Amino acid sequence: MSPRLRIGGVELATPLVLAPMAGICDRYFRRMIRRVGGVGLVSMEFISAEAVTRGIEPIIEKMVFNDDERPLAIQIYGSDPDRMAECAARVDELGPEICDINMGCPANKVLKGCAGAALMADLGLAARIIEACRRRLNRPLTVKFRLGLGRRADEPTYLELGRICQDLGVAAITLHARTARQMYTGRADWSHIRRLKQSVSIPVIGNGDVFTADDALAMFESTGCDGVMAGRGVLRDPWLFRRIAARLEGRPEPEISLDDRRRLMLDHFRWVAREEPPHVALHKMRTFAGRYTKGLAGGRALREKLGRLSAPADFLTALDEHFGQIT
Ligand SMILES: Cc1cc2nc3c(=O)[nH]c(=O)nc-3n(C[C@H](O)[C@H](O)[C@H](O)COP(=O)(O)O)c2cc1C
Repeated sequence: MSPRLRIGGVELATPLVLAPMAGICDRYFRRMIRRVGGVGLVSMEFISAEAVTRGIEPIIEKMVFNDDERPLAIQIYGSDPDRMAECAARVDELGPEICDINMGCPANKVLKGCAGAALMADLGLAARIIEACRRRLNRPLTVKFRLGLGRRADEPTYLELGRICQDLGVAAITLHARTARQMYTGRADWSHIRRLKQSVSIPVIGNGDVFTADDALAMFESTGCDGVMAGRGVLRDPWLFRRIAARLEGRPEPEISLDDRRRLMLDHFRWVAREEPPHVALHKMRTFAGRYTKGLAGGRALREKLGRLSAPADFLTALDEHFGQIT
């Protein structure tokens, strides 16, 4: 039953996509999820075309990736077609498999600049951006969006945007089945993914509230989508894609032990601590530890303790000791 997902000329090993997540999908997380397995395509956190075309180095550095992350999508956002096109050309030079445009970000600071989900209320501008980027790319272009802004009566606009994407040669589209106004509240309404799938012939990737392998199978089944993208679910359970991939092949889900969990966390954090200055490493470790330790025995006390530590080495020791106590 495993659906195949081909985006332009890129054939993915599984139809499973790691969602772009700002502050999360850095090179450490992307490689770790690759190493765990099951994922077909990993996405980078979104990159501002404005920042790239103004030469802001820390943002440009974020676009660097390693070959072992492939296939990979770099996601860009912005509201100026010329800057977006220039940024797409930069992406093209870097050579990921796919360039993705964000038309779904609900954050106010992005909406105010008329980028992200704001484009869903200005489909003319959205089309100009897609066209301008398409011309500068030698690789497939994808677009990720929501149902609409959720603020006006003439919405949602996702079906129209889907057709625009198809007409302009976009290779695949991803729908997060919520409006921007909803942010992450309520439940994603997958019936819209089904409607989008029925209205276009390019691949549709469904997104929103896939937290278990059962959820992913239900999304494939109920919407007919070509791929499933997951974000927060992978943060809670880094093995999620491996579980889904196993189920798609008719195999049972892998058993994940406490020791697997310990090793994954420590490998991830040791790597971050090796490569980043202490304050950056600590910030990243805290971000991920908060998510990874949800549901772990003594997790809350551990998170409080980790929050008080100020050296990466102490952080690693405390984590290791905690696992020693609960295994
Ligand atoms: C911390 C965080 C950061 C996110 N950053 C981005 C982003 O940079 N670009 C984007 O298109 N979506 C972003 N999203 C939205 C996710 O890609 C995804 O659409 C959303 O989380 C719904 O999927 P899920 O229910 O599987 O998490 C972000 C979500 C979270 C939780």
